[in-house]
Amino acid sequence: MEAKLHTIILAAGEGKRMKSDIPKVFHPVGGLPMIEYVLRRAIELPSDRVIVVVGTGKEIIMDYVSKRYEDALFVHQDKQLGTADAVKSAAQELSQLEGDVLILNGDVPLIKHTLIKDFYEQYKKSRASLGFITATLDNPEGYGRVVKRSGKFLIVEEKDADERIKKVKEINAGIYIVACKLLLKAAEKVKPSRVTGEYYLTDIVGIIQSMKKKVTNYHTDDTDQVLGINDRKALAHSEKILNRRKLNRLMSGGVTIFDPDNTYIEQDVVIGKDSIVYPNCFIMNGTKIGRRCTIWNGSIIKDAKLNDGVEVRPYSIIEQSIIGRDAVLGPFARIRPESVLDDNVHIGNFVEIKKSSLGKGTKANHLSYIGDATIGSRVNIGAGTITCNYDGFRKNPTVIEDEAFIGSNTALVAPVRVGKGAMIGAASAITKDVPENALGIERAEQRNIESYAIKRKNRLGHK
Ligand code: UD1
Ligand code: CA
Repeated sequence: MEAKLHTIILAAGEGKRMKSDIPKVFHPVGGLPMIEYVLRRAIELPSDRVIVVVGTGKEIIMDYVSKRYEDALFVHQDKQLGTADAVKSAAQELSQLEGDVLILNGDVPLIKHTLIKDFYEQYKKSRASLGFITATLDNPEGYGRVVKRSGKFLIVEEKDADERIKKVKEINAGIYIVACKLLLKAAEKVKPSRVTGEYYLTDIVGIIQSMKKKVTNYHTDDTDQVLGINDRKALAHSEKILNRRKLNRLMSGGVTIFDPDNTYIEQDVVIGKDSIVYPNCFIMNGTKIGRRCTIWNGSIIKDAKLNDGVEVRPYSIIEQSIIGRDAVLGPFARIRPESVLDDNVHIGNFVEIKKSSLGKGTKANHLSYIGDATIGSRVNIGAGTITCNYDGFRKNPTVIEDEAFIGSNTALVAPVRVGKGAMIGAASAITKDVPENALGIERAEQRNIESYAIKRKNRLGHK
């Protein structure tokens, strides 16, 4: 029978170097909290058990994780005394497990499934009791350095290192596989650092060797994958790497990214083939874009579904909405949450739509506000139309039936209904329902005063 593999994620640290009120592993990167990546790696491995050590900010972390990964077990580390202490806080859970355990720091979101898989294979083949990932960095600052003395590994933390050891470029990635039974025994033997007073998990490497057990390292050349995020600079750096990986995946899937250096697409966004994304767009998680869509520059799309053939013209914002096939939006359109635009809808410049539905082929091409409205098909909304949906207390609905024609600068004072095929005269303030096929008009009659302009000029003494 294949030995079982479990994963323990260390996520209790505060992340002092982030200078933040949010626990470090909860900081978003690529639109997802850092810990999400590590959890995904643990799940797809697959891991038999997933244990998450929580401490700082544990409420938000547990709330997030338990909603998505029902089977994750939480253990609490009361005081953040170091990574070895974090492992010890899982003593009860670990003592019940058979097989091996993968230990992942919660701040390594760039690690890929393939690297962990290869590492695990090599570990099994080597018949070692502990394996750990190492890499050679040009700038190893901040990482534990890996040194070998008379054939034995030793990891020295930056803070405990002398100048000679600080020059070592081989680093500990903070990713280990250890036989379950041995891990606890070794972690319990760790003594606090004389420099920082912290209990370093890295000390188990030496401890396990002194127990006459074999230790092996897995060296990776892909240094990006082992990047540990300790501060905001590393966060920005990982953001760039994750973004580029996402754009590459999209391009491999047949999406044109006009300028990958200036396009930002979060990790879980889906885009169909033959769609084009122009520069300076920000497309956020929860978004699904169909085939043959064009997203012009400067647009922000969040948690929205765009069907095939949609064109989003420059500088438009779409949030939590559904856009039908071949619809055209913008430039400068704003589609706010809970809007549903059917096929071939046209939304032009400076039009804001909120919590409204627009039927097939309906057009609102210029300067309008449509809120809490249900609008039928082939309706024409003239420039400057406003649904006056708020009476100071409540949001009231507007209904406009199929093929109605709303003249420019109409104020529709909700609740109000415009019947099928009805027309509204320009500049009307509509406070009463308009029946089917009727003309609704509310406007003082126009008066023309002959020669008024000339008389006025004379009065004021102008020639
Ligand atoms: C750690 C390693 C270092 C390695 C680096 C790789 C130790 C002592 N050092 O250093 O050798 O090069 O990772 O990125 O392990 N945590 C807890 N409880 C604690 C302290 C930390 O759960 O008491 C968690 C943190 O939330 C974090 C992880 O452990 O996810 C690593 O802690 P961090 O402080 O980032 O360690 P590094 O200094 O980066
Ligand atoms: Ca770290």
